[in-house]
Amino acid sequence: MMKYVIGGNWKMKRGIQDSIDVAKEMVNELEKYDNIEIFIAPSYTSLRDLAKIFEGTNIKLAAQNMHEKDKGSYTGEISPVWLKDCGCEYVILGHSERRRVYNESSERINEKVLKALEIGLKPVLCVGESAEERNNGQAEEINGTQLEVSLKEVSSEQIQNFVIAYEPVWAINSRALNPVGEIRAATRKEAEEMHNFIRNWLVNQYGDEIGNSIPLQYGGSVDKDNCKKFFTVDNINGGLVGTASIKATDFEPIVGTASELMK
Ligand code: PGA
Repeated sequence: MMKYVIGGNWKMKRGIQDSIDVAKEMVNELEKYDNIEIFIAPSYTSLRDLAKIFEGTNIKLAAQNMHEKDKGSYTGEISPVWLKDCGCEYVILGHSERRRVYNESSERINEKVLKALEIGLKPVLCVGESAEERNNGQAEEINGTQLEVSLKEVSSEQIQNFVIAYEPVWAINSRALNPVGEIRAATRKEAEEMHNFIRNWLVNQYGDEIGNSIPLQYGGSVDKDNCKKFFTVDNINGGLVGTASIKATDFEPIVGTASELMK
C-alpha cells in the first residue's frame, strides 16, 4: 500500500510567533505517526524557524509557491534556491488561489515545476475545476489540460518526485476563491471519479508502474470527520489540508486516521 501523504497549507493565516507555537505542538502530536509522509507549508517568513523545529522529526517543510527563476529583478517574488536553502523539501505549485486569484497560467506553473525539479524541490502540483466548469461538464477537460500543460517536458524519472493534489475550486474553504454561497467538501463519488481520471491520465502518460506510484491528494474542506471517506478511496493517497491544518488538535486526527488505515 502506498504511504499516505498529508500536507498542511497554512496560507497567510499564521504569524511568526503563532507558527513557532503551533509547529512545536505539531511535533509533539504527530511524532507517533511514523508511517505517514507529512509536510507543513507555513508563510515564507516562518520557514527558517520551522526548519529548526522540524529538524530530525517526521514533519517536512514545504513552501506555498516560488518564482520560476533563480534570482533577478522580480520585486516581491521568492527564489526557489533560497527556499531550498531554508530547508524546504516540497513546494506547492499551481494552487487554485495562485491560478485563479493571481492569474497564474499552467504555462507559468510548468516553468516553476521544471525549475523546482532542477533545484531539487518536490512539487505538490495542484489542479482543480471551478463550479461553473463542472456544471458545464468540463471538469475532466479542465483538469486534463492543467495536468498536460503544467507537466510538459516532465520525464518519467522526474514525475516520481511529485505529489498531485486534486482540489476542486468550489470545495476549498476560501472566500478568496468562493466569495459567496455554500462551500462544501466533494462527495466521495465526486472525488473518486476525478481521482480515477487523474490516475488514468498519469498511467497513459507514464505507464502502469510509474503512473500508479504517484501519490494523489484530495483537497477541499478536508477535516477530521470527513477524511476517512476520502482516504478509503483507491486512488486517494492523502490530503492537502488548509483550514484544518492550522491547529494541531484539528490536524492530528487527520494524520491519525491515515496512520490507522495503513495498519
Ligand atoms: P481547505 O483548503 O482545507 O481550507 O479547504 C485546502 C487548500 O486550499 O489547500
